[in-house]
Amino acid sequence: MSTKSDTAATAPVVHTPATTSRAEQPASGARLSLTGTDLGRSGAVVLHGVDLEAAPGEILTVVGPSGCGKSTLLRTLAGLLPVLAGQVAQDGRPVTGPGADRALVFQEDALLPWRTARANVELPLAIRGLGRAERRTRAEEWLERVGLPDRKRQLPHRLSGGQRQRVQLARALAGQPRAVFMDEPFGALDAQTRAGMQQLLVEVLGGTGATVVFVTHDVDEALFLGDRVALLGAGGLTDVRTVPRPRDRGARDDPATVGLRHDILESLGSRSS
Ligand SMILES: Nc1ncnc2c1ncn2[C@@H]1O[C@H](COP(=O)(O)OP(=O)(O)O)[C@@H](O)[C@H]1O
Ligand SMILES: [Mg+2]
Repeated sequence: MSTKSDTAATAPVVHTPATTSRAEQPASGARLSLTGTDLGRSGAVVLHGVDLEAAPGEILTVVGPSGCGKSTLLRTLAGLLPVLAGQVAQDGRPVTGPGADRALVFQEDALLPWRTARANVELPLAIRGLGRAERRTRAEEWLERVGLPDRKRQLPHRLSGGQRQRVQLARALAGQPRAVFMDEPFGALDAQTRAGMQQLLVEVLGGTGATVVFVTHDVDEALFLGDRVALLGAGGLTDVRTVPRPRDRGARDDPATVGLRHDILESLGSRSS
């Protein structure tokens, strides 16, 4: 059973105030869609008949029990895995591979260990052909934005896990991607660092315009970050729910949020065994 996303009924996404520098035009977010797709690996179907869309500028979170296919879905949307049936598209055009306008952040640390924090953040800027001075300025701006202005010359092994995730976030967003794919990026962090990173993510996304697909098995993380939450289970997409707003920690106890959390947990519980 698959559920058509309720994008049409969703208000446009308003992120927190823009922190974009004058040098930077916000990129317009991509529209991402899976249409009648079977997803899986090595020919084995993990998720069947998925219809799902992420609207431009939206944060779509994806939750589901371990092994249900969250990473498979994310990697398919990102163009890293082919669909087994149906279509994956960005702005109506089939996705056939990774692209420079799409950024990925995984739980695993993907920083190049021999490059400083700044040099890591400069990578997507170099790919986009920016000159040395501009790369440097932009990378430093991004390191400031993620709260690491004095760490630019550090090598990754001198940074804490949380700091490395901040650098990864800066690197992902510095290239002005139109879509960002995040696979449990904060999963290895302690609870307090993780809450800080969730807040930071919302802040730094402000004004970027990027569409974000964020995979997590943490329902509260999905509810805090997501404009909508897609639920996976039982070999397919089981539901897509719009999250009540405004986004703030206090909203955690609002009746609407409590009800939604209850529904999601129930849905996951009944399908995860
Ligand atoms: N590299 C792989 N090759 C073949 N099967 C895989 C591979 N990675 C994951 N799988 C299988 O695909 C299914 C979904 O995995 P995955 O998308 O990683 O789930 P999740 O991210 O929700 O934990 C699982 O049954 C898993 O065993
Ligand atoms: Mg996974």
